[in-house]
Amino acid sequence: MKLWAGRFSKETDQAVNDFNSSISFDSRMYRQDIRGSKAHATMLCSVGILTEEEKDAILGGLTQIEEDLTTGALAFDPAAEDIHMFVEAELTRRIGDAGKKLHTARSRNDQVALDIRLYLRDEIDSLIPLVKALGKALCAKAGENLTTVMPGYTHLQRAQPITFAHHLMAYANMLARDLGRLADCRRRMNVMPLGSGALAGTTYPLDRELVKELLDFDAVTLNSLDGVSDRDFCIELASALSILMMHLSRFSEEVILWCSWEFRFVELDDAFSTGSSIMPQKKNPDITELIRGKAGRVYGDLATLLTMMKGLPLAYNKDMQEDKEAIFDAVDTTRLCISTLIPMLETMTVKPANMRAAAAGGFINATDCADYLAKQGVPFRDAYKVTGQLVALCIEQGTTLEELPLAEYQKLHPAFAPDVYDAIRLETCLGQRKVTGSPAPETVEGQIAAAAKWFED
Ligand code: ARG
Repeated sequence: MKLWAGRFSKETDQAVNDFNSSISFDSRMYRQDIRGSKAHATMLCSVGILTEEEKDAILGGLTQIEEDLTTGALAFDPAAEDIHMFVEAELTRRIGDAGKKLHTARSRNDQVALDIRLYLRDEIDSLIPLVKALGKALCAKAGENLTTVMPGYTHLQRAQPITFAHHLMAYANMLARDLGRLADCRRRMNVMPLGSGALAGTTYPLDRELVKELLDFDAVTLNSLDGVSDRDFCIELASALSILMMHLSRFSEEVILWCSWEFRFVELDDAFSTGSSIMPQKKNPDITELIRGKAGRVYGDLATLLTMMKGLPLAYNKDMQEDKEAIFDAVDTTRLCISTLIPMLETMTVKPANMRAAAAGGFINATDCADYLAKQGVPFRDAYKVTGQLVALCIEQGTTLEELPLAEYQKLHPAFAPDVYDAIRLETCLGQRKVTGSPAPETVEGQIAAAAKWFED
């Protein structure tokens, strides 16, 4: 029998029941539902709506239910419409009439709005340390590779020399912004909607401030229609997670490239790669490919949420029940990706010799050669042109700027002197890039030290 059966003369069609039910996916919020109900009951008692005995019976019953659900002594009833109905019905079954009073001055609309906020707030609180752990893993790898020279790319063409440390720290910076977005999202989410009722508040003299305090919220919602129908916080979280996944996906794509025989910049630990069922030589970076793929899945969750909300008139509509699977999936997927990526990164072997060999080809010191001339007073545009001609000459002769004889340099410009060879050495090109944000080893060391603060617990 439904808790709302009074108005109805027929049982709900079984197929409709199944279609309508959300317990298969919202049961994961049982702790938050119970925590919210306890705060509500405590407040109802403090304003005189429940007696002390009723409140105690409710709190005791809810504690028991939570314990039994956690141990598995009590199973979720798949026939229950949702987690809210299930807990309330079970409470009433256990403690009788007091249980029936719990829902006074409350609607499932403000209840579910509360529960999702509590649930997602907990999720953010456990995601943040995980993102920090990934940030720390990046910093640690970077610290080991301050002088590991590699080509920096634009258009996936070798461009200028950088270090592997510098490259990794780019991702650390992205993660720092991701952390900022998660914290912002948590802040805006942390507003207490209970007391909004179904949509129009309530005539009961509720103490919303007390509920806010009991549940560690920063404020109470100020408009009951908005309180029950706002899902911005789900969208905001899905969007922060989408950006985070986009970062993980870019990194994954690079690892995939770096593992290939074409690059051979890194090698994944055997425990973090997979083989082929037919090609015995294969060692595949499946983990990173999956992360790249799952980024699309999280974007899909964001699109689901945005699309679900865009046409909804105020206030609650059942469409909004669809928020949960999408946002839960976005959170679960992101968590899974980060947890897998951390040990993969930690066990990844770097191949400095291969990175250096790649950096030594491709004329990635050409800008430095032009800068050498410019520093002798040659206008940069002219220096650029002369260097372009030198590169063309090297390509023609199958040599490099390092090996081209000085006489050839001087034929193109008299300002070239023997110290040009020092100026175009990879170590010089790197070591001189010391301005804030550049890849010189000591500059990156400073970056890593700054990043330690972003990721500290
Ligand atoms: N299971 C519902 C949801 O997730 C709870 C709110 C239902 N409210 C209602 N009036 N049908 O959105």
